[in-house]
Amino acid sequence: MAETLVSHGASPAGPAPHGAPEGETRRDFLTLTTAAFAAVGVGAVVWPFISSMNPARDVLALASTEVDLTPIAVGQAVTVVWRGKPVFVRHRTAEEIQQARATPLSQLKDPAPDQSRVQRDQWLVVVGVCTHLGCVPLGQKPTDARGDYNGWFCPCHGSHYDTSGRIRLGPAPLNLAVPEYSFTSDTQIRIG
Ligand code: FES
Repeated sequence: MAETLVSHGASPAGPAPHGAPEGETRRDFLTLTTAAFAAVGVGAVVWPFISSMNPARDVLALASTEVDLTPIAVGQAVTVVWRGKPVFVRHRTAEEIQQARATPLSQLKDPAPDQSRVQRDQWLVVVGVCTHLGCVPLGQKPTDARGDYNGWFCPCHGSHYDTSGRIRLGPAPLNLAVPEYSFTSDTQIRIG
């Protein structure tokens, strides 16, 4: 590139400094100039490309997921994706609710009453990401291990969650998070 410009005889630098061969000075100037433009050009192309790969903050903030609860029978659970994360929606049995309610807060690593984690007793909605290192715990399928407390079991390092999604055993420090959600009708929720 620099050689091409030199061969066409452009001379923006004026007379060569005293004692310097004129051809070399022109070539040095043009080489530097070309390199500078190349660097700026690459930067200008790469930045919009990277920038366009990130969803705008307002799009992320508004993202929500509607869940129809009608097909989820008592004792069943479904996993939905919300903002790229799995969310567990479990239709709890009377026994599961009773187990969660009967647990003294003194036995909990991250104490929280079951009532503070649900809006309607039979529906538990939690982010399905283990609070240890981020694995997705087992317990959604009928054939899955549910751990010692009948909730979810994270096989990565052995964390057990109860029927309120609270951490009971293992290295995870916190309960499964409850996402922001609301009931839009008796049979539908909107997460986010
Ligand atoms: Fe769940 Fe480690 S990621 S126990």
